[in-house]
Amino acid sequence: MKQFIDAIEVFLSKHDWTPTRFGREIAGDPLFVFDLREGREPRSETRNKILKSMEKYNKTGKLMPLRIGVAGLGTVGAELVKILQKDGAAISRKIGREIVVSAVGARSRSKDRGFDLSDIEWFDDPVALASSDNIDLFVELIGGEDGPALASVKAALSASRPVVTANKALLARHGVELAAIAEKSGAQLGFEAAVAGGIPVIKALREGLGSASVIRTYGIMNGTCNYILSRMGEEDISFADCLKDAQQLGYAESDPTFDVEGFDTAHKLAILSSLCFATQIAPDEIFVEGISTISQADIKVANDLGYKIKLLGLAQISEDGIEQRVHPTLVPKASAIANVDGVLNAVVLETDHVQELMLSGPGAGGAATASSVLSDILDIARGTRVPPLGVPSNELKPYKRAPMRTHEGGYYIRFNAKDVPGTLGVITTSMGKHGISIESIIQRPDLQAENASIKGENTRTIILITHETMEKNVRKALDEIANSGMVIGKAQLIRIEKF
Ligand SMILES: NC(=O)c1ccc[n+]([C@@H]2O[C@H](COP(=O)([O-])OP(=O)(O)OC[C@H]3O[C@@H](n4cnc5c(N)ncnc54)[C@H](OP(=O)(O)O)[C@@H]3O)[C@@H](O)[C@H]2O)c1
Repeated sequence: MKQFIDAIEVFLSKHDWTPTRFGREIAGDPLFVFDLREGREPRSETRNKILKSMEKYNKTGKLMPLRIGVAGLGTVGAELVKILQKDGAAISRKIGREIVVSAVGARSRSKDRGFDLSDIEWFDDPVALASSDNIDLFVELIGGEDGPALASVKAALSASRPVVTANKALLARHGVELAAIAEKSGAQLGFEAAVAGGIPVIKALREGLGSASVIRTYGIMNGTCNYILSRMGEEDISFADCLKDAQQLGYAESDPTFDVEGFDTAHKLAILSSLCFATQIAPDEIFVEGISTISQADIKVANDLGYKIKLLGLAQISEDGIEQRVHPTLVPKASAIANVDGVLNAVVLETDHVQELMLSGPGAGGAATASSVLSDILDIARGTRVPPLGVPSNELKPYKRAPMRTHEGGYYIRFNAKDVPGTLGVITTSMGKHGISIESIIQRPDLQAENASIKGENTRTIILITHETMEKNVRKALDEIANSGMVIGKAQLIRIEKF
């Protein structure tokens, strides 16, 4: 103990620091040195952490360079290294500390990454990189919810080494466990880039809105889907053709399932929702529907009715628990979210004090995502400390799912109805029987051609817009109408949100 106190007193006089500064910057408690001088003994764990932190300061009392190790040098990783090599000096001036990339790793060492790797230590194994004593901070940009990403992040955190990652799949699946490891070891865990790429929504929620209660959050969190739906709204082009173009332009993966079927949005929503409501992350509890069934008929009718179709991720508190859903949604054309087009993302936070706040911007891309990764790195370099999920992980409430069948809202329903007398009657009678009030009924003879291709039958397109009603009633009515034999194929059902 005496040795410990002496080491601190030497540090204070050598660097000409006040006890308060030492307490604030190194011990996380401004009164630490005063308490120590009065005989309060810190635990051995705390002592070790403080001694380790003191090693970060050079002879003049300035922080030593922050050495980062980057695992994954693809779209985001390579961009991050390039930005640091190009703008490192300006960034260092802002935080009063140099940041150096001292180690990197990827699968192929020989691949040209567009920057000079000769002075940087190379690791084939991400876990060895994460465990290296030559780095102070580990950046995981490999991707994937398990495998090397999980193993390396756990290795770094367990060794009390801070971690920054852009990996939403990893966070959605293991976020609570990783936050707990980070809290136990005293390491920070940053994941700003994991939700909505370049938009600083995690920081806004965790810090800027730290005192607010979130009532609802929703957003466009997948640029691929937003590009496809926006383009379908501007041109008479099918989903399939639009997807092909998106793939050629590099906006969609060769296997687009994860994006277009809504799973990517669900991962981001799961993380967002945990931060909003201080609940455990629950990606498997999300109701998910993708955009692959959206046709030009839906886009055109929605447009005529004053709506656009967007793939939204939405989480809100209801009487039954928390509703988390991802699905195509009709949103009024005049709403702010409807005007977020192309590959852009946006997240809306509705809180008690601030009411509504919308953040929009690029949700993906190397530079935008690397900018969010850097924002976490800068926070860690400055010594900012916040629990990764906003509250300590052991205080996160268990997630209680509000069942989708009790969801209440308006619905757009499109039928391919047989062109025979009585069809409309069957549809409206069923709706009435299940207590569904209809706002409008639209018949669109101009959409015949698209429908006629369905099994070569002669059909009519009938669209219903309902007033607010419960999902379970709509489901019952649709089952009954399908069983009547008066409609062909599955009815198209799209939920309406009147923001
Ligand atoms: N791209 C975006 O716009 C974006 C936006 C937000 C979040 N993110 C997230 O950021 C992370 C990285 O995405 P990305 O687009 O940069 O991915 P990427 O282009 O596919 O790059 C992945 C990198 O990881 C390396 N890698 C893969 N398996 C490895 C292994 N077993 N050991 C060592 N290295 C391995 C690859 O090495 P090789 O280069 O040698 O093959 C590559 O350098 C993901 O979690 C992603 O979800 C990306």
